[in-house]
Amino acid sequence: MKWAILGAGNIAKDFARYFKTERAELYAVASRSLDKATAFAEKHRIPVAYGSYEEMLADESIDAVYIATPHSHHYEHIKLCLGAGKHVFSEKVMVTSRKQLDEVTQLATEKNLYLAEAMTIFHVPLYPQLKQWITNQDLGKLKYIHVPYASVRHADSPMYFYKPELAGGALFDIGTYALTFALTFLTSPPTNILTFGDIHEAGVDETSVILLKNKEKELATVTLSFATELPQIAVVAYEKGYFEIAGYTRAKQAVFTDPNGNKTTIDADDSEHAFTHEINNFTNMVLDKADNPTLEKTRQVITIMDTLREEWGLVYPFD
Ligand SMILES: NC(=O)c1ccc[n+]([C@@H]2O[C@H](COP(=O)([O-])OP(=O)(O)OC[C@H]3O[C@@H](n4cnc5c(N)ncnc54)[C@H](OP(=O)(O)O)[C@@H]3O)[C@@H](O)[C@H]2O)c1
Repeated sequence: MKWAILGAGNIAKDFARYFKTERAELYAVASRSLDKATAFAEKHRIPVAYGSYEEMLADESIDAVYIATPHSHHYEHIKLCLGAGKHVFSEKVMVTSRKQLDEVTQLATEKNLYLAEAMTIFHVPLYPQLKQWITNQDLGKLKYIHVPYASVRHADSPMYFYKPELAGGALFDIGTYALTFALTFLTSPPTNILTFGDIHEAGVDETSVILLKNKEKELATVTLSFATELPQIAVVAYEKGYFEIAGYTRAKQAVFTDPNGNKTTIDADDSEHAFTHEINNFTNMVLDKADNPTLEKTRQVITIMDTLREEWGLVYPFD
């Protein structure tokens, strides 16, 4: 199976660096600039470089494309890739609305191609292991999830963070992780959503608090900000104890505290980078024609994002 990278920016470098799978080859990279693509290919020992996305997608030997462009462009680039008959692994946030997601999902189904979001939480081994651990214990009901993601980004950054035309904003950039985390543990998606969102003058969301409640009466608070820092520690609380998961976007360990204060560490014993898991899982899914389990979670996250944006009155130029 041959992979290609579409968009040679910052995160694409990590994808290339941690591309490690026995069953596939990182074969090509495309940039809007041939010089940039060539330099990227040389640095990461990728055999073929293209100076346009369309030119690369015309290469029939490519099976799967990793999309690493800004949020605003994923929808268009996913359609380009699927139209060219390629399986698609798109960076988060996969698209910017439920309407877009339904359209690209339908297209992937019609073309019999795989489409999935490059979301670390779906792929790091800790989470399935932790869920198994929870199943084996008698922890009672899930009561509450606390999941913050706050990391200072400057409004004058040349990056997409505060640029509405590139679908910047905390929700799409980092909220996607926090909401995915909450939905990983909630028994069912939320039926009630309350929120306050602070919209920066640049036209993107900067700080927000989100309250979720589902039909099982499980509660979650999600806190997002580009204007302050918070420890990236998520808490998942059951009737008979709680987990703390530090660095939850790529976590390898969780600490459980029982009602007596005794602590147990659940260690995933995982030496790989999250990207290596992501690449291997997507490759295996395609080659083994396996189920695509993450797309439904992506749909649930994007559905919540639609509600939040409506509540905040956050409209992007491309909406
Ligand atoms: N998985 C993770 O850990 C992680 C971390 C950071 C970011 N991300 C995600 O990865 C994606 C890209 O983020 P990044 O940090 O790599 O951004 P970046 O450095 O700005 O790279 C984005 C690339 O997209 C291409 N592009 C196409 N149209 C563009 C346009 N109109 N304006 C700007 N760039 C355009 C450019 O590549 P060419 O010039 O080569 O065409 C650019 O280098 C986002 O979805 C982001 O949320 C994921």
